[in-house]
Amino acid sequence: MADTYDFGLVGLGVMGRNFILNVADNGFTAFGNDLDDEKVGALIKEGGDMGKVNASTDVKTFVDALTTPRKIMLLVPAGKVVDIVIESLLPHLDKDDIIIDGGNSFFTDTDRREAYLKEKGINFFGAGVSGGAKGARRGPSIMPGGSREAYQHVKPIFEAVSAKYKGEPCVAYLGPKSAGNYVKMVHNGIEYGLMQLTSEIYDLLKKAGGLSNEELHQTFAQWNKGRLQSFLVEITSEIFEQKDDLGDGELVDKILDKAKQKGTGKWTSQNAMDLGIPVPTIDVAVSMRELSALKEERVKADALYDRPTPSAVDKAEFISKAERALYFAFIITYAQGMHQLADASKEYGYELELGEIAKIWRAGCIIRAALLADITDAYQANEKLENLLLSPFFVEKVKETVGAAREMTAYGAINGIPLAGLSNALTYFDAYTSSRLPLNLIQAQRDYFGSHTYERVDREGIFHTEWEDN
Ligand code: 6PG
Repeated sequence: MADTYDFGLVGLGVMGRNFILNVADNGFTAFGNDLDDEKVGALIKEGGDMGKVNASTDVKTFVDALTTPRKIMLLVPAGKVVDIVIESLLPHLDKDDIIIDGGNSFFTDTDRREAYLKEKGINFFGAGVSGGAKGARRGPSIMPGGSREAYQHVKPIFEAVSAKYKGEPCVAYLGPKSAGNYVKMVHNGIEYGLMQLTSEIYDLLKKAGGLSNEELHQTFAQWNKGRLQSFLVEITSEIFEQKDDLGDGELVDKILDKAKQKGTGKWTSQNAMDLGIPVPTIDVAVSMRELSALKEERVKADALYDRPTPSAVDKAEFISKAERALYFAFIITYAQGMHQLADASKEYGYELELGEIAKIWRAGCIIRAALLADITDAYQANEKLENLLLSPFFVEKVKETVGAAREMTAYGAINGIPLAGLSNALTYFDAYTSSRLPLNLIQAQRDYFGSHTYERVDREGIFHTEWEDN
């Protein structure tokens, strides 16, 4: 066992245990802390023979074992627990020590904690960690925000443990205060959008295309070799092959169609509304999880209404259109998320570099995808890009695929297959690319009933009309 340890980690659940073992794999010594004896024991058992890992339930023993400035990461549930752990550490810490919250904390909580700890001379980082348990063990994408100077102490460890994309680490200093948690929140919003879209394409392929689970597996596996290559498409292909241990057939068909959520997608939408940035594909992905939760009502309603029988399709052509539609909608979802980040950066003073963010999402995280290499290039070519839809590369890609998105959306509408994400992505595209929208009428209505005034297209100024009430 080492005498002193390079890195401390509080919270030895699945994520924490995997993260600390990853730190040790990369040549650093690491000390874990958890109130739970069993978790401490399990870590010592699993990592003890590496000679680099130790753990204790005692906070003082834990803190005293670390080299200064101490680098202590928390992987505990977001919310009150983070504050409780911080308070338990505080009496034992020294000036310039660093606490890193690696959970999905709400960004304003991170701002509050950062300000509070700064007064005490402690550096606080909000660092989004994405990639699930496997990512934590083998290389996550890490999104840290906080003091740039203090980051230098954490950087070698984070760069070593993070996922690598063609040798480049999937971690970068993102900005001050809650920049890291904010970026992770939007990452999750995009994750919600991509998952919703994938589920809709599955519905289309199954109900209209008549694809069996084996064919769905093959189709997604094939797509994963092309431009749709991504973690979510890859695991989707694998899901369709998974047999049910408790019965016949594949597990996917036995899973209750009620999607749960922990809140990060909802926060993304709520904050986008506050900023005045439209992210409708993410909004609707949250709404669809809410709608899915109304299972009993849906069952009652289903019995009250007829549903069209999906019209026959040419299978091969339908699969090809589905691929294009999904690719189109993925682009739109990333575009919305990146747009939100650009605006939040101005609003909160994060000074985010969108190209850097796309770069560290290319591997390790849940939304990693081949598309992110193209998104990185788009922002590297023009770091002031307002929206991905304005980048020449994506203009070409969208032109090539939007026709299929229209056909699929129309098919869903006529045949009663709900495509909330896809139709919404298409509407976002049609609206964002319309130089004139019908919202002049809304301005007229507002002025009519509330004297809210309006601007004109042909002259400067603010106008109000006494509308004639006939
Ligand atoms: C990640 C994920 C992760 C998230 C889960 C569950 O990046 O590793 O985003 O942080 O907690 O995906 O999220 P929901 O329960 O809200 O679906």
